[in-house]
Amino acid sequence: MTYTIDVHISPDEVRRRMRADAIAGLQADAKSIPPVWFYDERGSQLFEEITRLPEYYPTRSERRLLEAFAPAIAQLSKADTLVELGAGSCEKTRVLLRALQQLGTLSTYVPFDISDEFLRDAASTLTKEYDPLTVHLVIGDFSEHLAEIPTGGRRLVAFLGGTIGNLDPARRARFLFDLNCTMSSDDSFLLGADLVKERQRLVAAYDDAAGVTARFNKNVLHVLNEQLGGNFDPDLFAHVALWNDEEQWIEMRLRALGPSEVTLREAGIAVRFDQGDDILTEISAKFTPDMIEKELGAAGFVIDGMWGADEGEFLLTLAHPFC
Ligand code: SAH
Ligand code: AVI
Repeated sequence: MTYTIDVHISPDEVRRRMRADAIAGLQADAKSIPPVWFYDERGSQLFEEITRLPEYYPTRSERRLLEAFAPAIAQLSKADTLVELGAGSCEKTRVLLRALQQLGTLSTYVPFDISDEFLRDAASTLTKEYDPLTVHLVIGDFSEHLAEIPTGGRRLVAFLGGTIGNLDPARRARFLFDLNCTMSSDDSFLLGADLVKERQRLVAAYDDAAGVTARFNKNVLHVLNEQLGGNFDPDLFAHVALWNDEEQWIEMRLRALGPSEVTLREAGIAVRFDQGDDILTEISAKFTPDMIEKELGAAGFVIDGMWGADEGEFLLTLAHPFC
């Protein structure tokens, strides 16, 4: 087994970028913090808890699709290398790895994530299960470091879980275009996207009865406190999940329960909150198959296959760059 790790974003760089995001996002009229900052060790663990909640259908739905169609995906891609963007716990990856192993093509797994320690732990567990497998970890930001991902061989680049929906339309277009530029015509792209469905099911998935998503949402305040010397009191904010029908996305917000003044010492800012003021912490866009086809087409991809589950609950799309 060979194990290598490339780090493209150091802890100092993380702090520097978070500081820039906090200065711009918290001082704007419409306050926001990008969702990438949810995922410290605790945030990554809370996300794993979310994936097991009865209300949170996307992980189960995507896993069922992978279990049914991974052999077909493996056959179409004939990949020797699986690259996974935003790999997290590398859980569902196992289904793809098994299918590529059974096809006899698999040699390398390249998990890519911003959450350094969490990815190292997840990948080292996985490595023991898939000997012989070359594992090449890449720590970076998928909105910036796609060009740093190792190339060569025949790659299947997977972006699962519906994480594409956490990017707004402009960032999504940029991301898909940039990704396309790093891929060769022999590579394939596997995208997991959550689909538009009844408002009630969507909202429940982001506002679970056990309050795990609320803890995940508020974790960003702990992260800001820890990284930027802040004094947010998470108990003074309520978790809000709402469906934006016009934009077709879920919005997660943190709403001030009363007036407060928060200082972020390392960012050199003080932010005043009045009761009812919101911080937008995440969007989670939901798609139709048509939208996915159009957005991938606009970024230079040709669709090789689409697989949906359970009356349009979730969608897997396999594509390759048009060259
Ligand atoms: N793919 C897994 C995990 C999804 S959670 C699944 O389907 O269950 C989203 C993952 O993306 C987290 O592990 C988080 O750390 C990572 N992530 C979020 N924003 C990122 C960014 N800008 N660059 C790299 N990784 C990011
Ligand atoms: C990682 N991402 C796809 C999740 C989602 O569903 O948008 C993050 C999440 N936020 C709240 N629950 C889960």
